Amino acid sequence: MAQNSAIEVAREKTQQAFRLEIHDENVGVIFIDVPNEKVNTLKAEFAEQFLAVLQQAQSTSGLKGLVITSGKKDSFIAGADISMIAGCENKAQASELSKAGHVLFDKIDNYPLPIIAAIHGACLGGGLELALACHARVCSNDDKTKLGLPEVQLGLLPGSGGTQRLPRLIGIPHALDLMLTGRQLKAKQALKIGLVDDVVPESILLDVAVKMVKKGGVQRPAIHWQQRLLSSKLLRNKVFDSAKQKALSKTKGHYPAPEKIIHVVKTGMNKGLQAGYAEEAKAFGELVMTPESAALRNLFFAVTALKNETGAQAAPLKINQVGVLGGGLMGGGIAYVTAFQGKLPVRIKDISDKGVTQALRYSWDLLTQRVIKRRLLARERAAVMAKVSGTLSYQGLENANVIIEAVFEDLALKQKMVAEVEKMSKQQAIFASNTSSLPIHQIAQNATHPEKVIGLHYFSPVDKMPLVEVIPHQHTDETTIATVVALAKRQGKTAIVVGDDAGFYVNRILAPFLCEAAQCLVEGESIEHIDRALVEFGFPVGPFNLLDEVGIDVGTKILPILVERFGERFKAPDLLDKVVKDDRKGKKNGKGFYEYGHHTNKLWFWKKASKRQVDKTIYSLIGVVPNDTLTKADIAQRCVMMMLNEAARCLDEKIIKSARDGDVGAVFGIGFPPFFGGPFRYMDSLGIAKTVETLNNLAMKYGDKFQPCELLCNMAENNRTFFSADAEDGVNATKSSNE
Ligand code: NAI
Repeated sequence: MAQNSAIEVAREKTQQAFRLEIHDENVGVIFIDVPNEKVNTLKAEFAEQFLAVLQQAQSTSGLKGLVITSGKKDSFIAGADISMIAGCENKAQASELSKAGHVLFDKIDNYPLPIIAAIHGACLGGGLELALACHARVCSNDDKTKLGLPEVQLGLLPGSGGTQRLPRLIGIPHALDLMLTGRQLKAKQALKIGLVDDVVPESILLDVAVKMVKKGGVQRPAIHWQQRLLSSKLLRNKVFDSAKQKALSKTKGHYPAPEKIIHVVKTGMNKGLQAGYAEEAKAFGELVMTPESAALRNLFFAVTALKNETGAQAAPLKINQVGVLGGGLMGGGIAYVTAFQGKLPVRIKDISDKGVTQALRYSWDLLTQRVIKRRLLARERAAVMAKVSGTLSYQGLENANVIIEAVFEDLALKQKMVAEVEKMSKQQAIFASNTSSLPIHQIAQNATHPEKVIGLHYFSPVDKMPLVEVIPHQHTDETTIATVVALAKRQGKTAIVVGDDAGFYVNRILAPFLCEAAQCLVEGESIEHIDRALVEFGFPVGPFNLLDEVGIDVGTKILPILVERFGERFKAPDLLDKVVKDDRKGKKNGKGFYEYGHHTNKLWFWKKASKRQVDKTIYSLIGVVPNDTLTKADIAQRCVMMMLNEAARCLDEKIIKSARDGDVGAVFGIGFPPFFGGPFRYMDSLGIAKTVETLNNLAMKYGDKFQPCELLCNMAENNRTFFSADAEDGVNATKSSNE
């Protein structure tokens, strides 16, 4: 049924988010179309409009029922408007938002006629809660259709009845899984667990939903035996207890939302719907006001803002094909994200068959894992693999307009690659170097087109790490910057544009953190103790685990460059040299700070990082007898304070454009604890004066490397913060004392 064949019976002149059309045989269709927005998000002020439309529909004589769908192209409802949630001033106000959601969605649930949700595009958070309140759900089988309750990722819980309706619809285990992970399901996965009742092509979505209404709704299949078992309170409570334990072991107590979700679902299942609603509203109010949720929301705003920025004053070039030079660990990963996420043809050039084969294998292995986990069909894997090819010459790369270089970390080699690319490229390709330490202006030094040379720094493993640093040098042109930022976004990455100086931003703040961890080891703290200290602080892995992961050789190569450029505060204790000389490279050669047994599969190790055992032989190698005299809090403070001070210096020197970019870089590049919001938000929360005082105290105890930088001292004196209260969205949060 064509939309334009419908009779529009109601559309206010004022900008309405909902419009009602009456289709054939008296089936009403409510289109959600928030004015002036690309995607639909729910705002509190829509409640009245929505109730009015429901009322209006009900007054249509002979109405058989309603379909709720979206008037936007590829978005059902992406969630509630986060700024509305962020704007709450206290728990009570936030709880009221939740209660208003209950009232509204109960109206749908209790509507006397069938209401069917017809879903195409993102159906997330409040959008899914609305769909859950409908009497049945049908969705398109399009890739853009995704269903989930991602509130936990913002430190929240579904506050409009989702915690109560979801377990009643799909059972407690599936509901807890969705709410505790925030993961998003594709249409077929949603169908499998009973979250939707039918999956159809987008072209007939509305027709099918209208037919459902005409039939009087949907007969749901009988309740699965596993769900029936959970009607026993005893068994139910066991499920809740084990979910709680699992959540705690994952969050280590840093995030309050998962526990609250379990508590609220449990209350609703044990004490009834109304008790569940009351508890949901109360917990929602509490969570909204937690610093953890505020920090996560700020990161969300920062990443969203970065998604909308081009990074330059020019439009990006259209990318036709990407070339990757070097099929090693990084080149393999870059080729994968380019073909899979970026959907672009990619050709890898290496000097050895082994390099090409290992890069092709990299994509194959990752795609196969997805096939095994049923996240990808075998034919989809074949389609992605058809985009990836390899060569030992430049054949087939002549027309690529972006070439990403990931060969060995050697300046002369990289300069040679620039010259070769300039010679062979018919497109005057952009040359993007993935160097981790070499200044981009030096790589571009002999280039005929230095404006086309730029840094594009990925992190390992490329498929998992969400950040890239884009590093223009003095002569890089704006089109090159914009094109590379656009490419990074296409690959699913968040890009920050940073300055061309030693270590760029992320490695520069990571280096003093790692050196301080090594210093603690020299002083007799054990590797386990130090790693645990930083994991308890909130990092995903400890510093030694991280060094093993990225490669101890790679991690330490950059230190002399930083020492030469910035001085002694980057000087690593000699023990790192001894470790490198012992051919300990970490997981890549199965020999590092930790033991690796026979397994050298990269992906396997990433997963099991937390379960590794320290290789005790390392202590005799470096001549340390561990005695663990410092507390974990002391160790964490030393390492983190070195990082914070350096981050502030980077802002002062304009290596990063804003505190916001600095927070995003540290959280997504290093794993700085997201619940602190990043180093700059963390310093604001500690208080700048307190940060300076702590650094001064550490300097007295451990030396000048802890001297607080000029920016921090100025800010403390002038009582300034990095973020002003009205820059909650992070977009304008660039205030530093030298602005
Ligand atoms: P890798 O040693 O695993 O791979 C380098 C590949 O380049 C090898 O396959 C080699 O055969 C190939 N190669 C050497 N000369 C070549 C040439 N003339 N033409 C084509 N291919 C050539 O190195 P990895 O770890 O992948 O690092 C590559 C680059 O990425 C380096 O600049 C490194 O500093 C940087 N990087 C590394 C990170 C890491 O964690 N490993 C993180 C971020 C950047």
